[in-house]
Amino acid sequence: MSNRSHRNSGYKAMNAMNRDSKSHSSVQGLHVGAPRKTCHVAAVSDCHELLSELPDESVQLIVCDPPYNIMLADWDSHENYIAWASNWLREAERVLSPTGNIAIFGGLQYQGEAGSGDLLSIIHHMRHSSDMLLANLIIWSYPNGMSARRFFANRHEEIAWFAKTKKYYFDLDAVREPYDDETKEKYRKDKRLNPETIEKGRNPTNVWNFGRLNGNSLERVGHPTQKPRSVIQRLVRSLSYPGSTVVDFFGGSGITTRVAIEEGRHSICCDIDESFVGYVSDQVAKIDSMSLLEPMPGFDVTENLSASHPIFAIGQASKHKQRKVA
Ligand SMILES: C[S@@+](CC[C@H](N)C(=O)[O-])C[C@H]1O[C@@H](n2cnc3c(N)ncnc32)[C@H](O)[C@@H]1O
Repeated sequence: MSNRSHRNSGYKAMNAMNRDSKSHSSVQGLHVGAPRKTCHVAAVSDCHELLSELPDESVQLIVCDPPYNIMLADWDSHENYIAWASNWLREAERVLSPTGNIAIFGGLQYQGEAGSGDLLSIIHHMRHSSDMLLANLIIWSYPNGMSARRFFANRHEEIAWFAKTKKYYFDLDAVREPYDDETKEKYRKDKRLNPETIEKGRNPTNVWNFGRLNGNSLERVGHPTQKPRSVIQRLVRSLSYPGSTVVDFFGGSGITTRVAIEEGRHSICCDIDESFVGYVSDQVAKIDSMSLLEPMPGFDVTENLSASHPIFAIGQASKHKQRKVA
């Protein structure tokens, strides 16, 4: 039986555009060149406080990895979880630009343990109380994790990608997986396949295979729920463009700040925990400035990381404990 999704008019139009090497309307008219310098804010702040200071439609991507009431720490407990989450979800929608996206991390397996909060309840809330569109439910699959006896050991988490409008920005080419030479050779003989796509590589699909960070991973800066750089990088590369602004108001280990600097995006990140600024400094110290010069020609890393440039202030400088990222 053929794949029904191929009969969908949206897919047909996209496939036709791909064949003709045209870009989706979300990319047209956007300035997607790499900037010479980017600005980064790292603040110790409550998420609502930070969001309230951001202008309408000013943000391209929100990386959102919220606490889920699973009592991992002091910050992980809310009596009415959805009432709390609905405040920042509404604000997130307001600050996203019409091409904007939000990627919300979570695990469906926390239902029950969590009481009122998990990704299912967020998706349900969004469906009924928001105009944003669920573009993909990404399965982040990993080989390493806890063992279990009373159920199958869990080996995935989910990332719900919501787009603000149908004009959302999505750069598939930035995250395609290259084919090996043997596969390319085979596919080139298949006249049904688009030669350009064969060269570019395959769509990585909505099932992502990246290991979770082990305790001794060199990426770690000490935060208990730090996400791998590769996962954040794929989100940033596909759902935002160079020079656009990425926000993470549950910044945790500061990994979004690191990836934003590496990828030539501006960033505004905060966390309620005072350790955040220290984590961000550790993340910045891990950036290999030489490696940046290759993927981002024209992006002046030295200036970007120099102490005299990187911060632009939000509101009153004294309100949040701001700290220069570099
Ligand atoms: C799941 S962790 C985020 C981890 C992060 N994505 C990473 O990869 O490092 C959630 C974070 O939200 C922060 N947090 C909890 N309540 C908050 C609030 N009201 N405002 C801002 N941050 C908050 C916690 O301190 C914690 O670091």
